[in-house]
Amino acid sequence: MTDLAAILSRIGARIAEASDRGRVADYIPELAHVDPARFGIAVALPSGDVLTAGDAETGFSIQSISKVFTLALALGRLGDTLWRRVGREPSGFAFNSILQLETERGIPRNPFINAGALVVTDAILAGHPPREVLGEILRFIRTASGDERITIDRAVARSESETGHRNRALAHFMAAQGNMVNPVERTLGTYFHQCAIEMSCVQLAKAGRFLAGFDKMIAPSRVRRINALMLTCGHYDASGDFAWRVGLPGKSGVGGGILAVAPGRASVAVWSPGLNAQGNSKLGTEAMEMLAREAGWSVFG
Ligand code: DON
Repeated sequence: MTDLAAILSRIGARIAEASDRGRVADYIPELAHVDPARFGIAVALPSGDVLTAGDAETGFSIQSISKVFTLALALGRLGDTLWRRVGREPSGFAFNSILQLETERGIPRNPFINAGALVVTDAILAGHPPREVLGEILRFIRTASGDERITIDRAVARSESETGHRNRALAHFMAAQGNMVNPVERTLGTYFHQCAIEMSCVQLAKAGRFLAGFDKMIAPSRVRRINALMLTCGHYDASGDFAWRVGLPGKSGVGGGILAVAPGRASVAVWSPGLNAQGNSKLGTEAMEMLAREAGWSVFG
């Protein structure tokens, strides 16, 4: 039997020694203060056990990882009609790119790039007050992780709102193309707050159990599709590289977190705040690569 605890402590030791830790995101000023030396990893297993190493109980900003949970909510509420407003193809461009939107008439390539996630948030908002929808997003995540303590870091939300010019550009462009149904600032405000949800690796790994197939929060057919999108689009223009190196569906966030699932086997969360050139956690990706290799986990056989 694989000794997962030993693998995790080896990974923790290796990551602690790394000299190039990537660059902490600073376009959201509040995230620029985070210490790049932090590292945590948590693995939730079908037995209910959660194995950890490093700062696995420390909260961090989940940022784009929230897009997985809002997609699950939107599909639950709208079903396949969501796909009239957002595509399911990798974009090949940065997470906050504006380029394709004009040539593709305001329909974002997929729900994980910022433009697509704004459409998803706009879809679940649909006339409801933001406070109610944020409550619903939090309820979903708290139920998934079995932890009522998970909350939004309002300072991070405010910080992103103050500097969120690119997201405003994306949202206004889509509004001009008829692909926003709520007032643009309302959708943006809700999106900034969902991105500012704070979770630890333990909470996040537990929240990912439904994607690993350990509980039936949503239908298995829907889980498969969310996992397919995580594999093909979850790391933006580095999704191919993540599939190549790790071989598992994963979703990153600029807070330095990654959630990945080995279907039927594990839900894994890592956190290392320094990012690579594509805005994904540099050492987090390396940790996932080591774990998948040493545990023998891959969706590719
Ligand atoms: O909208 C943004 O730019 C951030 N709130 C989230 C981006 C993000 O996490 C990209 N992921 N690696």
